Amino acid sequence: VPLQTYNTFGIAARAHTLVRVRSAKDVHDLLGDHRLERQPVFVLGGGSNIVLTGDVKPLVLKMEIKGLRLLEETDKAWIVEAGAGEVWHEAVAWTLAQGYPGLENLALIPGTVGAAPVQNIGAYGVELQDRFHSLVAIDLATGRPFTLDAAQCAFGYRDSVFKHAAPQAPHEGGGLHRGMGLAGRAVITHVRFLLRKDWAPELGYLDLERKRQEAGVERPTAQQIFDWVCEIRRAKLPDPAVIGNAGSFFKNPTVTPEQCQDIIARDPKIVHYPMPDGTIKLAAGWLIDACGWKGKTVGKAGVYDKQALVLVNRGTPDDSVTGGEVMTLARAIQTSVYERFGIRLEPEPVVV
Ligand code: EPU
Repeated sequence: VPLQTYNTFGIAARAHTLVRVRSAKDVHDLLGDHRLERQPVFVLGGGSNIVLTGDVKPLVLKMEIKGLRLLEETDKAWIVEAGAGEVWHEAVAWTLAQGYPGLENLALIPGTVGAAPVQNIGAYGVELQDRFHSLVAIDLATGRPFTLDAAQCAFGYRDSVFKHAAPQAPHEGGGLHRGMGLAGRAVITHVRFLLRKDWAPELGYLDLERKRQEAGVERPTAQQIFDWVCEIRRAKLPDPAVIGNAGSFFKNPTVTPEQCQDIIARDPKIVHYPMPDGTIKLAAGWLIDACGWKGKTVGKAGVYDKQALVLVNRGTPDDSVTGGEVMTLARAIQTSVYERFGIRLEPEPVVV
């Protein structure tokens, strides 16, 4: 099965077997199918945060579970449930149309609802974990559904329990255990958001505050913020439908205040943000830009000319970039950032 249209980089890898999953029952039935027994599984959402470096041998589950509904309303909040296969941006737009604010800062992030908790997506001062209620997943070893709350998901910066492998092979017939990594062991079927009625706009991010001032609005509505976020993203991030990419290719690194002082002494313009825990977050895009990578091309892999943190496919559908080329460019960038700043950049997408 060709995967080129199932990953936003547009890499021309193939899957040995791909199964479309439209309901939790589909997963259950699949697990009961002897032909597929004990086969490793790769869960595919919108394919917007992966780099395929070869053909995918595990069974690919293409998540297409739909559904958007108000699960519960209390005097404090709306709890909305979305199927894992819903397109993220459409789910955000739906909540706003219903009059439930809260997800507007996360507008236009590529990918599906089910992928959102995996890397705890975030943008413009809001992370998924700030609006998360719980999720429903199916244990691939037993076929049983289970629910996880935010603490059990162990959210971190672009991180969760779903990004980590289990430390050991699952026990015979055993279920899932708390604290274990769930990568490859569970599939998310539904995500529930907690959208508070005492909503307030989140404008801490400079780009958004600038938009507010330009518009001359004191207290913007959630819909206005949604529109501004869409404008900002369209201006500096490539649309994967036009030019293949997987969003930010590296995480923003954190350093100690001492390390940061060292770097500032040499590079006074470095973009840095103090974090609540006392560490300093650096803008990886700035570091890469400072090393002269913006707009560069190596093979068919390129560095986007408006945001150095985004690697792009400069090939054509018939002659697309390979995952190997992307990783070669990524390593060259890592090396030059390390040599100049002594900082190791960590890739953000999942390398398959
Ligand atoms: N910068 C440069 N040169 C560049 C790129 C950035 O100097 O080529 C500077 C910018 O001027 C700015 C700073 O670096 O001062 C930060 O850039 P930006 O505001 O574009 O945000 P980012 O830190 O690069 C992060 C997320 C994005 C998210 C934006 C907005 C990560 C890895 N990336 O990017 O998330 O949309 O903030 O909140 O945390 C993603 O994860 O795929 C993603 C796109």
